Amino acid sequence: MNNEEHFAETVTRFERPAEQLRLLCAGTGDYLSFDGDQFSISGSVDDHAIWRDVPGGYRHVETGIELERSGKTLVGERGTITVEGEKDFVDTHGPERLPSEYLDHFRAHGWVCLTSILDPEIVRGLEEVACTDRYADRTFDGTVSPLVQSAALARCAAEPLSLWLIRQYMQIDEIRLAHVPGIAVLDRDDGQRNVQGWHSDFPYLWGISGRRNANGIDGRVPTASGATVLGIQRNVCVSDFTKVGGATAFKLGSHAHDSGPPREWGHGTLHYQPGHRAKHGLPYSGSEADIVEAPGGSIILYDARTWHRAGVNRTDDRRAAILQAMTPMYVMPFADTSGAWKELRKSAVFDELTAREQREVQSLMVHYIAGPAGITAITTDPELSSMLAEQRGER
Ligand SMILES: [Fe+2]
Repeated sequence: MNNEEHFAETVTRFERPAEQLRLLCAGTGDYLSFDGDQFSISGSVDDHAIWRDVPGGYRHVETGIELERSGKTLVGERGTITVEGEKDFVDTHGPERLPSEYLDHFRAHGWVCLTSILDPEIVRGLEEVACTDRYADRTFDGTVSPLVQSAALARCAAEPLSLWLIRQYMQIDEIRLAHVPGIAVLDRDDGQRNVQGWHSDFPYLWGISGRRNANGIDGRVPTASGATVLGIQRNVCVSDFTKVGGATAFKLGSHAHDSGPPREWGHGTLHYQPGHRAKHGLPYSGSEADIVEAPGGSIILYDARTWHRAGVNRTDDRRAAILQAMTPMYVMPFADTSGAWKELRKSAVFDELTAREQREVQSLMVHYIAGPAGITAITTDPELSSMLAEQRGER
């Protein structure tokens, strides 16, 4: 583990797929699903919802049954497919592989790459808001939340396969965004500024919380959490993720240690300190670390315990990503998402979303207490916050 060994990480590369499977989307935004016996529409994308383009129609990958396309309707052995009053279906962008294959990989290794999972139109919208790639000469509008600049961000947050995988991996249906999805842009490294050190993500924050707990651990979660997964990070590659362009560095599989990264790799808390790089150099970037290279439009999911750090961009191309901490409903959020949700709800962008997307984004962004008195949405309290700040002598 030698910090002098720079940019020697082991690369795992995912190429843009030659073929994408298809999802057949009803007017509600839910997907046509077949369980071997019955058709249904569902917001959940598991193997039942995966189809392949064949001449004149679609083949259900799991069972092999075929449907003929006739305009927007689909015709099977027993006639036109009608489910819950829905009979028009639009062929939409799907994954490269079956959901169960991704889930097997995720469970076995603690991470998975959904290569080119996002519809190209969503990727275009993300680039436009981020002002990178095809929109590199555009100027970022910092006056308006990215979430209401384009429907692409909300549609990306509602991407159904990643949500299904997160729910399966954390063994809970009610999952939340722990903060508002934002765009992270990494420009060329200047050789001097601090680079993020090694850490585990929210809510663990091992190596980066900035304070030691009673067990002497720098982190929020005091002990290993075992089979109870407290967080998954969902990294959306807007730009192509490449080693030279600053793709995230990982120690793949390190979630299994269920503890923070080794101190000698350079913890995040240390590397944030002013002047740290000038004195101590970069965090570990040797061959025991990994880089996942993937085309723009891919989503990398990883168990939040996985040791990782931001990449170092050695190109002139600005690299955009959307980083989303996903948690079970019982974990306190990292930041308040309620204001951004209300802003989205009132915006024109909201009307561009399908009913499924609206439902998903609401369930991800509205944190609430369900008690005997019913459901109470949780938000921050400015008056109470001011009182606390006064007590601490901050105002
Ligand atoms: Fe992180």
